[in-house]
Amino acid sequence: MSIYLGSDIPKHIAIIMDGNGRWAQKQGMARVFGHQHGATRVKEVVEECGHIGVDFLSLYAFSEENWSRPKEEVDALFLLLSNYLRSEASDLHKNNVKVIVIGQRERIPTECVKLIDYVEELTRNNDGLKLVLAISYSGRSELVECCKSVAERVAQGLLSPDLIDHNVIESFLPTADIPDPDLLIRTSGEQRISNFFLWQMAYTEFLFVPICWPDFSGNDLRQAIQKYQARNRKFGGINTENLPVKEGREDTL
Ligand code: IPE
Ligand code: IPE
Ligand code: MG
Repeated sequence: MSIYLGSDIPKHIAIIMDGNGRWAQKQGMARVFGHQHGATRVKEVVEECGHIGVDFLSLYAFSEENWSRPKEEVDALFLLLSNYLRSEASDLHKNNVKVIVIGQRERIPTECVKLIDYVEELTRNNDGLKLVLAISYSGRSELVECCKSVAERVAQGLLSPDLIDHNVIESFLPTADIPDPDLLIRTSGEQRISNFFLWQMAYTEFLFVPICWPDFSGNDLRQAIQKYQARNRKFGGINTENLPVKEGREDTL
């Protein structure tokens, strides 16, 4: 039976799907075997988010830095991504999922871009789960692009520097219409954000789980949400509700 989560469901969950290579190598298999299994987990987790009632799910599928991997691995990853979009398009649409792709589209192989355009167009008017796929994505690069756009507006006399605030910056990011993530999950045990959503994660709750992505199940997602629900979010303020009572010194490194 699946874990009951009540009503405090995070609106936006972001996931760094890490550990495919290690998962495969542990079994004496090639890294691409891990990526193949990882793709089946994407399907499961997307469906689970739909059942749970999550509004936005962002999946970090390929970083700008991942271009530095061997060509065979990069090719295999884009083939898997294309296969995923081709085989899931109609189910995603049927399940009312809206697909949004962010990242440097100009670097993505043409065949894959065609599928991205097709699935985005097909699902454009859906109002169920919004599935954000970060492909060839870099948090720093998107901030550089944002700075360029803002600077252009200023140079054209369309924007006064005094008026630049958080809202202006956000309006130039590809996530302009997406709320900031409430919860970030990174699988594989690594504890870093590897250039994901640098601006957007200012107040996100981070959860680093030791499971590799090809083993991460819908039930693990529910457990992660339970852990999120036990957190005390303060946004710089004071929240006296549900504070854990600690006696003496319990903290150890
Ligand atoms: C995540 O798994 C997939 C991508 C980064 C595309 P990895 O391929 O990074 O697997 P590990 O971290 O090497 O085990
Ligand atoms: C982050 O994983 C990127 C994705 C999951 C797409 P990496 O495996 O590329 O990150 P590092 O190199 O361990 O920081
Ligand atoms: Mg990795």
